[in-house]
This record gives sequence, C-alpha cells and structure tokens, in this order.
Amino acid sequence: MNFTSRELARKYNRFARWYDLVEGVPDLLGVRRLRQRLLRQTSGKVLEVAVGTGKNLRHYPRNCRLVAVDVSEEMLNVARKRAGKLSVDVSFLLADAEALPFSQQSFDMVVSSLSGCTFPNPVTALQEMARVCRAGGKILLLEHGRSDRDWLGRWQDRHADQFAKPLGCRWNREPLNLVREAGLKVVDVKRIFFGIFHQIDAIAEP
Ligand SMILES: C[S@@+](CC[C@H](N)C(=O)[O-])C[C@H]1O[C@@H](n2cnc3c(N)ncnc32)[C@H](O)[C@@H]1O
Repeated sequence: MNFTSRELARKYNRFARWYDLVEGVPDLLGVRRLRQRLLRQTSGKVLEVAVGTGKNLRHYPRNCRLVAVDVSEEMLNVARKRAGKLSVDVSFLLADAEALPFSQQSFDMVVSSLSGCTFPNPVTALQEMARVCRAGGKILLLEHGRSDRDWLGRWQDRHADQFAKPLGCRWNREPLNLVREAGLKVVDVKRIFFGIFHQIDAIAEP
C-alpha cells in the first residue's frame, strides 16, 4: 500500500494537531538525543525536507540559515508557530520532496528526519536532496526502518500494511539500502533501539 503525496498531505493535515503528542513516545526512546546529535553538525544554508511540525528546529546551531519544506500545510502551520516561539528564522515552503523547487547545489547541507518511511518514492526524494545539495555537502538523515533483529524485522513485515494505513508510514523499509540505491555515499551510521532508528550521515557526490 503506497499513498500519493496528495493523499499523504491530507492525512498529515488531519493529524497535525496530534503529531507532537504521539511523537513524544519515540522521543522518550532516544530519538530526541539522535536529533540533537544529528543537527549539531549543521552549518551554513540548510534545507530541511519534510520538516513536519518543526521538532528539529530547536536543535540547529544559531548560525544556520534555514529553509524548510513539507507537503502538508497544517504541519507547516504548527512548525511556523514553533519557529516563532523559539525565535528561529526559517523560510517555510509547501513542496514535494520528490520535486524540490530549488536549483542544483543550492544548499550546504540537507536534513530529513523520520520521513523516508512515508515518501511514495524514497529513492527519488533522496536523489532530489542530493541534487540541491552542493557537491561534497552533507545529507543528514534520521530514519526508522526494519529492525536488524530477525524476529522483530519479520514481525514488522507481517504488520507493515496495517501499520501504514493511518499515516502512510512503511516501517519495514531499509533506509541504508535506499540511501545507497539513490547513489549517496554513506559516511557514518548509528543504529539504536533494536536497530530500528538510524542516524545516517551521507555525502552528495559530484
Ligand atoms: C512522520 S512525519 C516527520 C516530521 C518531521 N520530519 C519529524 O522529524 O518529526 C512525516 C512528514 O513527511 C511529510 N511528507 C510526506 N510525504 C512528503 C512529500 N512527498 N514531500 C514533502 N513532505 C512529505 C508529512 O507531511 C509529514 O510532515
């Protein structure tokens, strides 16, 4: 079961007001720490793809110039409010990760978190991130995917269709394979919580 970007936008528009509450659970499992660790590496002009409600915004160093996109207007509205409260300057844009409205090499770094599970064509989205990132610039990803414990991975496989119904989240994707398939060079990987959550540092090769 794969949803289109338009269907996903509708789903996340409806879910936007609950997102932060529900997302508190992975935060408690260590995702908040992964966000901090991922984002302290950022500098310069940074694009965040599928920014959602802006849960990463508090973790960027102050000297970053931030542009953030998402396909859901309601998620962006929550992110705009959060940026205002945090006094973080961000240019928000409604856009599809699979057709980013920027020219090649527009950014020093690209960030995306917990979103590769929902993109209809994750490899296309990753290739778009690489296209808009300067050659040699970092693409920093925080993803969840299929566990590397066989018993748990097989359980995720069995329940994947059911789990994807409400928000289009395919929880048994293999983020590392997708990154490699997109032609990015992986430079560092950390996995936590039964190998489900991945912090992936990759480079956009020229
Ligand atoms: C699970 S949320 C993650 C939000 C945020 N990145 C975070 O770490 O909390 C997935 C986000 O991806 C967005 N999304 C899904 N498909 C998209 C697409 N094709 N282009 C841009 N955003 C998309 C959804 O609207 C939603 O905000």
